[in-house]
Amino acid sequence: MTLTAPFTLKGRSLCSIDDLTKEEILYLLDSANEPLNPSALQGKIIAHLFLEPSTRTRLSFEAATLRQGGQVISVAEPLQTSLSKGESLSDMIKMVSSYADLIVLRHPQDGAARWAAEMADVPIINAGDGAHEHPTQALLDLFAIRQSQGRLEGLSIALGGDLKYGRTIHSLLKALAHFKPRLFFICPEGLEPSSETLERLKQKRILFSFHPRLSDVLPSVDLLYMTRIQKERLKGGLFEPICLDRSLLNSVQDHFKILHPLPRNEEIAPDCDNTPHAFYFEQAKGGLNVRAKLLSELL
Ligand code: NCD
Repeated sequence: MTLTAPFTLKGRSLCSIDDLTKEEILYLLDSANEPLNPSALQGKIIAHLFLEPSTRTRLSFEAATLRQGGQVISVAEPLQTSLSKGESLSDMIKMVSSYADLIVLRHPQDGAARWAAEMADVPIINAGDGAHEHPTQALLDLFAIRQSQGRLEGLSIALGGDLKYGRTIHSLLKALAHFKPRLFFICPEGLEPSSETLERLKQKRILFSFHPRLSDVLPSVDLLYMTRIQKERLKGGLFEPICLDRSLLNSVQDHFKILHPLPRNEEIAPDCDNTPHAFYFEQAKGGLNVRAKLLSELL
């Protein structure tokens, strides 16, 4: 069965998860369950401009393009581009718009994707802009949450780690607000979500609380979304990471799952990997279909 949407995403950019309605998000998640159409992107060229390190996001976008019959032109190393000769992002985007049908952009500056979308003649997908947002990660996070819990509405979700600089957290919190979760935050002091983020949750009537230790909340939550400390974005300061190991899993419910956008550092001990609670590798795997569906809907 091929799903048909009562709206079109064609020609649109995805800079923030707020660019999609709840209905559009659910449609993308539903259609990501369907087999890929190997000719959906036939004749299309997708430019992948990754001006910051990436493994999963870049490779899953590339695989998603190739598996649907599209072609890829890419930059994975900013020093190899004319940005190193002083070319502006806007000149680069204008030029690449004339070579490709869509641009997937990862950039170190907050807001770069929106700015690029204003310059570009083709859709832009934000693959992470500074500490700001990572909307396609939020889509695949929701996909993994629904896959692991069977639903999105009304879950009890703990979020651990760097809740201030993690762009996946920013997009995920915005997306989750559609589904009335109960949120539990466990983070080093100084890495709390911004006051703007907390205010927004309050406005949406999402209940949240802060807790010093993972063990305070693990027995009662459906899932834990862990993140690494974003060392490259910290302006000074040393933070003791929040860490999960196998011994902490003794108290969790059977259906409890651990998610993480990856890459992980020390925040999830490898001894958690072969427990029935680890879901982070399945989470990353689902990214291919979610991104594939998004590409074929925007083009
Ligand atoms: C994340 C990112 O780049 O923001 N990685 C990813 O895309 N899966 C998370 C991170 O780097 O910590």
